[in-house]
Amino acid sequence: MKICRARFNWMPAALAVLALALAGCNQPAGETAGSTGTIKVGEFASLTGKEATFGISSHEGTLLAVEEINAAGGVLGRKLELLTEDDQSKAGEPATVVNKLIARDNAVAILGEVASSRSLEAAPICQQNKIPMISPSSTNPKVTETGDYIFRVCFIDEFQGAFVLANFAMNTLKAKKVAVFTDVKSDYSKGLAKYFKEGFIAKGGQIVTELDFNGGDKDFKAQLTAIKAANPDAVFVPGYYTDAALICIQAKQLGLTAPIFGGDGWESDQLVKIGQEAVEGNYFSTHYAPDVATEKSKNFVASYQKRFNGKLPDAMAALGYDSALILADAMKRAGSTDGPKVRDALAATKDFDGVTGKTTINEKRDATKSAVILQVKDGKFKYLETVSP
Ligand code: PHE
Repeated sequence: MKICRARFNWMPAALAVLALALAGCNQPAGETAGSTGTIKVGEFASLTGKEATFGISSHEGTLLAVEEINAAGGVLGRKLELLTEDDQSKAGEPATVVNKLIARDNAVAILGEVASSRSLEAAPICQQNKIPMISPSSTNPKVTETGDYIFRVCFIDEFQGAFVLANFAMNTLKAKKVAVFTDVKSDYSKGLAKYFKEGFIAKGGQIVTELDFNGGDKDFKAQLTAIKAANPDAVFVPGYYTDAALICIQAKQLGLTAPIFGGDGWESDQLVKIGQEAVEGNYFSTHYAPDVATEKSKNFVASYQKRFNGKLPDAMAALGYDSALILADAMKRAGSTDGPKVRDALAATKDFDGVTGKTTINEKRDATKSAVILQVKDGKFKYLETVSP
């Protein structure tokens, strides 16, 4: 019986494969109208390499959302299939893997990345193929300026730098003179440094010195010596966690005692693992804190911890989760997985109630959301305040 049934199914299956292959020849990318089977959603993330914790957290949040959506019946009567590619935290890889997701796998939408430079690399490919891309957490304004298929579900660095961090330095740290230490290899770092400077100067603050490093450097002593000589009240390091932790260690070794603060790029358990007591007492801004929980967020924290061995979700996990839910919501409203239709539905997203708050996509395809300030306290991230736009 079994063999018989298998034989019976062979012909239609072969025909279906042939039909799909033929249809694929005429279609630029994405899927054909009236497709059945799973809905393929591509994801690119830094699962390994220098910013591995960004990609891992973001992927876990995204995966959890996809699993929950599927458990509740999927989208348009179909299950979502998350196809995840590791870009190794390396320039050059995002273009390769996103091309593969679109051309080989026929992904109908792309989720990613965390780091702005990597989102910026993949965005033109999605735009050209009319495949909607949602970055969960890239904050550089240029990402969504790439084109009308590119969205994000987080705030941008104009808000984080010129408003949140400039006010924090001025009002909470009571700093008048700040030194800025920028990673010139990162679009995120350069943008956040620029917006911070503009905002801080506009509020009457003074930038006493500005120095550069290259992400991945190991020795920051020469620049930190110059920063110490400028005698700042505080030092702003808009970088990623590995570099920020090493900078804090070396600053301490040089006797630089001014508080050091950063943006969302500091958020990783590795900041504390690498930096240890050198990062104690320092501060950063980010998108989400698991301890200030709304009802939605509390449920998310509980299901995330259950799914991932008791690990607490961070901003990337929460935004990854919301990015997948917002995509599913747009597909439902579009009644289709077709790129242009999903694009229009995404652009019309209004007050979507997620774990990171309400998401409304504005005319620049960005979201307006609150930020939080966290402080490193006893090796943990302690919630200090929420800053609303
Ligand atoms: N906003 C950062 C960027 O654009 C990435 C990031 C988001 C890092 C959230 C940590 C938390 O590069």
